[in-house]
Amino acid sequence: MLDSRRFRGALGRFATGVTVVTGLMPDGSPVGVTVNAFTSLSLRPPLVLISLANTTVCLDAFVKGDRFAINVLGEDQRPLSLAFATRRKDKFKDLVYETWDSGCPILPGCLANLECTRITVHQGGDHVVVIGEVNRMEHSEDGNPLLYYRGSYARLGEEI
Ligand SMILES: Cc1cc2nc3c(=O)[nH]c(=O)nc-3n(C[C@H](O)[C@H](O)[C@H](O)COP(=O)(O)O)c2cc1C
Repeated sequence: MLDSRRFRGALGRFATGVTVVTGLMPDGSPVGVTVNAFTSLSLRPPLVLISLANTTVCLDAFVKGDRFAINVLGEDQRPLSLAFATRRKDKFKDLVYETWDSGCPILPGCLANLECTRITVHQGGDHVVVIGEVNRMEHSEDGNPLLYYRGSYARLGEEI
């Protein structure tokens, strides 16, 4: 049996960006989750994937809802990452956001925002993989990403 602490340690050596993935619950209420398991999957068609724990309270928004949005955080958005990684009811209380075609929250000040249509959901152990086709997007020309590495937030160092 693989030691799960060491497994997490090994995976944590893979540096990632940080996103807040947003959607709508069946009753139309907006929800969001901090996700670093986000990957580009295909260029044609333009597909992306996210991986969500089966225990995610708002999982229905992503496995049953038709649409979701991915908000790629910048280095000054650590408070947003922390807020959406905390299990609480109304994560959007006192938060200003935009909506595009789907009604899913588009967070301002991000490096990129992508609005997606859910294509498929695959069970993967204790997570689900949600694949979405990107329908609309915007990105900023400058700004630095919020990074996650070895269980801590980081920012870009020197380019090499
Ligand atoms: C930097 C960071 C990255 C995370 N990445 C993921 C992820 O990829 N998938 C996931 O299911 N949870 C991830 N989490 C944990 C969720 O954000 C957290 O458990 C959240 O509260 C789940 O949403 P819920 O409150 O609706 O259950 C991450 C947390 C942090 C701080």
